[in-house]
Amino acid sequence: MAITTRQFDAVVVGAGGSGLRAALQLAEANLRVAVLSKVFPTRSHTVAAQGGVSASLGNEEPDNWHWHMYDTVKGSDYLGDQDAIEFMCRKANEAVIELEHYGMPFDRLDNGKIYQRPFGGHTSNYGERAVKRACAAADRTGHAMLHTLYQRNVRAKTQFFVEWMALDLIRNQAGDVLGVVAMEMETGEVTILQAKATLLATGGAGRIYAASTNAFINTGDGLGMAARAGIPLEDMEFWQFHPTGVAGAGVLITEGVRGEGGFLLNKNGERFMERYAPTVKDLASRDVVSRAMATEIKEGRGAGKDADHILLKLDHLGADVIDKRLPGIREIAKKFANVDPAKDPIPVVPTCHYQMGGIPTNMHGQVLAGHGGNAIIKGLYAAGECACVSVHGANRLGTNSLLDLLVFGKASGEQVVKDLGADAIAHQELPKDAADRALARLARLDSAKSGESVHEVGAELRRTMQLHCGVFRFPDSLAEGVRKIHEVAQRAGSLYFKDKSKVFNTARVEALELENLVEVAVSTMVSAHARQESRGAHDRSDFPDRDDAQWMKHTFWYKEGNRLEYRPVNLKPLTVESFEPKARVY
Ligand code: FUM
Repeated sequence: MAITTRQFDAVVVGAGGSGLRAALQLAEANLRVAVLSKVFPTRSHTVAAQGGVSASLGNEEPDNWHWHMYDTVKGSDYLGDQDAIEFMCRKANEAVIELEHYGMPFDRLDNGKIYQRPFGGHTSNYGERAVKRACAAADRTGHAMLHTLYQRNVRAKTQFFVEWMALDLIRNQAGDVLGVVAMEMETGEVTILQAKATLLATGGAGRIYAASTNAFINTGDGLGMAARAGIPLEDMEFWQFHPTGVAGAGVLITEGVRGEGGFLLNKNGERFMERYAPTVKDLASRDVVSRAMATEIKEGRGAGKDADHILLKLDHLGADVIDKRLPGIREIAKKFANVDPAKDPIPVVPTCHYQMGGIPTNMHGQVLAGHGGNAIIKGLYAAGECACVSVHGANRLGTNSLLDLLVFGKASGEQVVKDLGADAIAHQELPKDAADRALARLARLDSAKSGESVHEVGAELRRTMQLHCGVFRFPDSLAEGVRKIHEVAQRAGSLYFKDKSKVFNTARVEALELENLVEVAVSTMVSAHARQESRGAHDRSDFPDRDDAQWMKHTFWYKEGNRLEYRPVNLKPLTVESFEPKARVY
């Protein structure tokens, strides 16, 4: 079958914050850039980010990037690479001011400066007390950011392919990436988008869990494409459970609620975080708070008739503060929990929120070929949640995600401009089989006369992850999880649609997404089973302590052979002294 080929200088897959920030850099450099998105750009998942973007502006009290860097290293439980962390924290102020100049509607202090609120794990003077570092647009910071970046891209003439799904990467014999095979979701038509640079910005894959704050589109498409193309996935055992998802619904209640003075209570009305984190209490880092909440529930102090959730109290802030600083939260609580938080506490539980791992990159967004050294894959870049640079290590601090996508979105865009500009490079010849893998996946789905239901296999995948790889991890359960997730993967190899006459492309898209979720889930379970220590968000009952002697290293999972390799953490920052690992208390 003849397939249309369209040529661009660069193709960006994903139109969330990192994709848009990178695309802006490319379009403003007059490159021909195509941005593919499964949804209209301003509906990308960045829109759901609530509480803020971190930068040590010091608008309300003293702050500086050294403290931000220290907090991020400590928050990562010393698994983050300190060169990348320094890079990000030093660039934070510039990144936020740049957005301000693009017209982002931040909240303001009386003196006109950007409003900042405290967030978990952000402290002044190396852990002394909570600091106001999260630059906020009420509780809709991601929404404001995404619209600002989208409008700026429209101005720069970025070309958008809306409701297009990338299916697979195109690599030649040398391993260079030459673009993607993509499908227009409405028509099912397959097109080759040939590019000198391909940038993956597909966001997270939180839909591998049954309870998730993530949008339905967060299916790890970039990770699936990378894994199938022979690229490893890094640190996939580390998944963040946000302490405050609405119980039973999963919708995010921003940590900004606690930043504004809200706090958590168990069924006895006890402010239990005072026991777990005496200094910063409810503003400890997320892994610490989520574990504390899960412990309270496990030990019978959960609230509600089934003792299965925790209460988030904020009525004492008063309706005026809630309406000014947290208007979206009031609306979410009313709609999804049937409570008015100006009167009653919100029922919350730790809920899957963010993947710390992803496609391995350096600080310039260049994708690394593997665990050893700095070999890069020519033509391929990644930024944002789908990438692992690694600044979040074993646990990300709240508001560092929006910062990550701004800083590394821009850095990867700059790198592409440099790479394409230096040699004025031409398009490489496409291999004859460029589209074969993607076409074979579609053909198998369309021709299968029997097999497994997408819905049932997807549900089993989410159940398996939730049950066997959650906040607390147990050896037997993890081993069982590995067995079960391979079984799910096997079943996902024979998906089929029961009633072909009723199949529209949305069903086909769900099947393709499930194939991506499978790669993410398998890499997560296998990596988690192998890491025999507790660090950050990875908590094992059989290895309760962090083991710096054995495990100061990043995991690399390869789909081929389902094998793992490791690389030591980079403890050496760019210009300052290392922060040596020490006990992590808040
Ligand atoms: O709690 C929140 O507003 C989420 C922020 C984040 O994940 O960075």
